[in-house]
Amino acid sequence: MDVGLIGDAVLQNLATQPRQLSLRARLYLALREAILEGAIRPGTRLPPSRLLATELAIGRNTVLKAYDQLAVEGYLEGRVGDGTYVSEALPVGAGRGAGAPARDERVGELLSRRGAELARLTGSSRVQHGAFMPGIPDVEHFPFRIWRRLLSKYIHPRQSHLLQYAVGGFGPLRVALAEYLRASRMLTCDPRQILIFNGTHQALDLCARMLCDAGDRVWMEEPGYWGVRNVLRAAGLETVPVLLDEKGIAPRAEDWHTPPKLVFVSPSSQYPTGTVLALERRLELLDQAQRHKAWIIEDDYDNELRYHDRPVASMFGLASAGRVIYLGTFSKVMFPGLRIAYLVVPPQLVDSFVVGNTELYREGRLTDQAALAEFIAEGHFSTHIRRMRAIYRERRDTLQEALEGRLGGAISRSGGHAGIHLLYHFNAAVDDVRVAETALARGVVLRPLSVYYERAGLARPGMNLGYASVPVARIRPAVDVLTRVIESRLQCP
Ligand SMILES: Cc1ncc(COP(=O)(O)O)c(C=O)c1O
Repeated sequence: MDVGLIGDAVLQNLATQPRQLSLRARLYLALREAILEGAIRPGTRLPPSRLLATELAIGRNTVLKAYDQLAVEGYLEGRVGDGTYVSEALPVGAGRGAGAPARDERVGELLSRRGAELARLTGSSRVQHGAFMPGIPDVEHFPFRIWRRLLSKYIHPRQSHLLQYAVGGFGPLRVALAEYLRASRMLTCDPRQILIFNGTHQALDLCARMLCDAGDRVWMEEPGYWGVRNVLRAAGLETVPVLLDEKGIAPRAEDWHTPPKLVFVSPSSQYPTGTVLALERRLELLDQAQRHKAWIIEDDYDNELRYHDRPVASMFGLASAGRVIYLGTFSKVMFPGLRIAYLVVPPQLVDSFVVGNTELYREGRLTDQAALAEFIAEGHFSTHIRRMRAIYRERRDTLQEALEGRLGGAISRSGGHAGIHLLYHFNAAVDDVRVAETALARGVVLRPLSVYYERAGLARPGMNLGYASVPVARIRPAVDVLTRVIESRLQCP
């Protein structure tokens, strides 16, 4: 087995080891897992420690120590003058359990076709922290004292009604949100048009079920947020990738010959490219959606965190004909664990969406909703956003300067005027997944741009770097590691 293949198997496993362990311990576990799972079979000659160390971009000593430990435990055996081998005495795929089928077969037997398809969609990373994991806001600066005060006010016997089921979301939260949207997003709606969900995915799932039938087409931005794609596919829809240009989603005239039922867009700051959907495209989309009776889902992602200008007004506010559903989340501007997102739906959909929401998901968590309503109404929400905008801006500038100063012409930035991540394209043909795996083995997280594409053939290599949760002092050291990884990959793409 060549060093590249063994390196691949080890890198994949390294990514899932607990990050609090030393690199040596993680490497030991990654190799052990590869042997037990049968990815490296009994009798395989392992690469010399120096070669594997170079392949993984880590120190040789780390590899030697991991080999030693595995040898002591009987996984490896040395043959005098002939290197290190995986012990012949181990049964192939020992870790799968005696006679147990391979993982994929087992899953196939246990799950429905739909379930197995869903289980294969592994978009979410198991690593959810550290420089530069995208999508992770800073929660250290959250105003804990205020939030605690509000929660204890509502977790109280006098507020026991908040512990019951809810229908249609908590009234005062919908009122506070309607006011916030009017003031900041040029979006006028009746509070009854706002429905509260347990995060973006649940809100989208309801849209798919209420507006589409199995097999209906939904247009997705390409590249786009894989989470949305997975939810819509799991709801039985056919996702159709539509490429972007510098003005945002760019369907060709002939694409409208087979119109979609839904179009999903993130017009304020397209995820992950940061492109702002141009006004003429917005108007064209609204017009075509009206003509073809398609629905537009406007994910107003990252509108709150713009660094240079005010966000463009929402599409919902532009759409007199009511074919737009507006989607917002509190994950990035409050904290992801809150799991509160919302839809604003046109008046004609309100009653059926409320029933759908109640029947499918059963709403609750009124205590959180009440605390959030007051948090917004008392002005803490706006203050928090203003404060975080300044902190994030400094982090973004630091990352941008450090990275562009080091890598110069090798990368080019896309967007970056809003949000909590920076997206870079590689100007040469580089395997971005490999870059991400190697960086992860060195303790730096990033998301390869290619994973945001549905059609792998169209993918441009690049990297998505989240900076929001990384204090300024930690940015430069992480950039040092990352640039070394990228430079070595540029030499051997
Ligand atoms: C485009 C986009 N919309 C919405 C979300 C937020 O999802 P949620 O509300 O489930 O946290 C994300 C998460 O990263 C995203 O990338």
